[in-house]
Amino acid sequence: MGDRTSDDLATLREMRSRAVLGGGHKRIEQQHARGKLTARERLALLLDEGSFQEFGALATHHVVEFGLDRQRFPGDGIVTGFGKISGRRVAVFAQDFTVLGGSFSEVQAQKICRIQDLALESGIPLIGLNDSGGARIQEGVRSLAAYGEVFVRNVMASGVIPQISLILGPCAGGAVYSPALTDFVIMAGDSFMFLTGPDVIKSVTGEDVTALALGGADVHTARSGVAHLAAPTEVAGLALAKLLLSYLPQNNNEDPPQITPEDPVNRMDEELNTLIPLDENQPYDIRDVLAMVFDRDSFLEIQPNFAANAVVGFIRLDGYSVGVVANQPAFMSGALNIDASDKIARFIRTCDAYNIPIVTFVDCPGFLPGTDQEHGGVIRHGAKIIYAYCESTVPKISIVTRKAMGGAYVAMSSKQMRTDLAFAWPTAQIAVMGAEPAVRVLYREDVRNAADPAARERELIADYREKFFNPYRAADVGQIDEVIEPRETRPRLARALEVLRTKVQQNPPKKHGLSPT
Ligand code: HXC
Repeated sequence: MGDRTSDDLATLREMRSRAVLGGGHKRIEQQHARGKLTARERLALLLDEGSFQEFGALATHHVVEFGLDRQRFPGDGIVTGFGKISGRRVAVFAQDFTVLGGSFSEVQAQKICRIQDLALESGIPLIGLNDSGGARIQEGVRSLAAYGEVFVRNVMASGVIPQISLILGPCAGGAVYSPALTDFVIMAGDSFMFLTGPDVIKSVTGEDVTALALGGADVHTARSGVAHLAAPTEVAGLALAKLLLSYLPQNNNEDPPQITPEDPVNRMDEELNTLIPLDENQPYDIRDVLAMVFDRDSFLEIQPNFAANAVVGFIRLDGYSVGVVANQPAFMSGALNIDASDKIARFIRTCDAYNIPIVTFVDCPGFLPGTDQEHGGVIRHGAKIIYAYCESTVPKISIVTRKAMGGAYVAMSSKQMRTDLAFAWPTAQIAVMGAEPAVRVLYREDVRNAADPAARERELIADYREKFFNPYRAADVGQIDEVIEPRETRPRLARALEVLRTKVQQNPPKKHGLSPT
């Protein structure tokens, strides 16, 4: 008989080594055969080496009906704890598909909630690795109710600590709503998200559809807008989460970390001065502008495949994190529509929550006209952009590079909406509408009665363009603070942001506003 202490230690070690195996060797092999890593392998890739501290490894489920008494796995389908990413503290959970398909149980919820509570109280980001078949069917209402416990914590932590969700396998049924309540959703590999599965769809509507077709990364990054980023593999997805985190603060009371700048802050790219095409209707890629203005190779575009007529993302200037919002003249002439409005508004609010200054580049002919947009609620959606800019209190700077027409001028960070500084390039055109429609509205009779109506219209259009298609009227009335050479944009922005770094602005006390939804 061994001594008491070594028996105790042996028991603990045996229990721990069983917990590390999750659903066991066979299930791990199946997971690998699906091309997927296990929860622990994922955490090892995500976290700094040796930094993971696990909690709840020995918890098992309480429900023992439907044969669950024969399948009690320590950890209950989830690995939870704390670790570090590039030396910064993070809280993590990783669902373990090898245990009952990572299905969500009451105990799984208790483990997630504990980590959520500790993350919120400690002010550190929470990263969730999702791989789950949804509510554990055998647990009935217990697992359904448990989702509510997680959701309420997602919402309480929203805007306080960054929450990032990685989707690394199925994310089915109730499992979708916790990621949807977090700040960022990254889908990797062949992962998929659906609310109602193929079996239910078949029995209710008769439609035959696969899980992947319902909601793979293609669908959710380009069409539904549920996911913000996608990566071809799990390894790339985990790397993307780490990169994303580098732009964010630990919590809403801190600023994002500044990295050592390598790009000289006074660098001026001469090419910027000739980047805007002479023909005003010719497109250019706003991302070329961003690449020349900001620190080299520092752009992390968010939702790159959704509403490509708008570009949003994190970038750096002199090593500081900046949120950039821009129209994209290379797609739909940069017109604003429903999806672009949602994308821009959400991003502004994200930056505002996490003390990240916003720089807006404007080249937009206006809101996209048409019944599709009007009936789809472009008024309601477009109002979200205005609401978000007006509500936000972080430093805000705008730069009109070319068109700022009508509603687009107002909505895209106009001076009156608490924008701190408004710059324009000499190529800026700031007007209520384009020259042709303006002349048609204002001079219908004049043109009709002219001896040569076509020539008269051309003359009036030229006159309108002469008056409005420049930034100087706006500068004259103070709507533009400074007209600058495009190449000066980088040093100008850096100096302006330096001044604004200590900006303090408050909103009136209220329970919460009613942002258009
Ligand atoms: C219990 C589950 C489960 C679940 C999967 N499993 N989902 N067990 N509850 N929700 C089990 C399977 O029975 C199987 O166990 C193991 O996990 C692996 O699953 P497979 O089906 O073999 O894997 P795969 O072929 O990869 O398919 C994965 C899947 C599929 C697409 C997730 O399992 C599936 O469709 N599951 C149901 C998804 C679903 O409809 N969830 C919604 C629940 S309702 P064995 O032992 O046989 O290998 C819900 C509503 C909450 O969540 C709403 C709150 C707002």
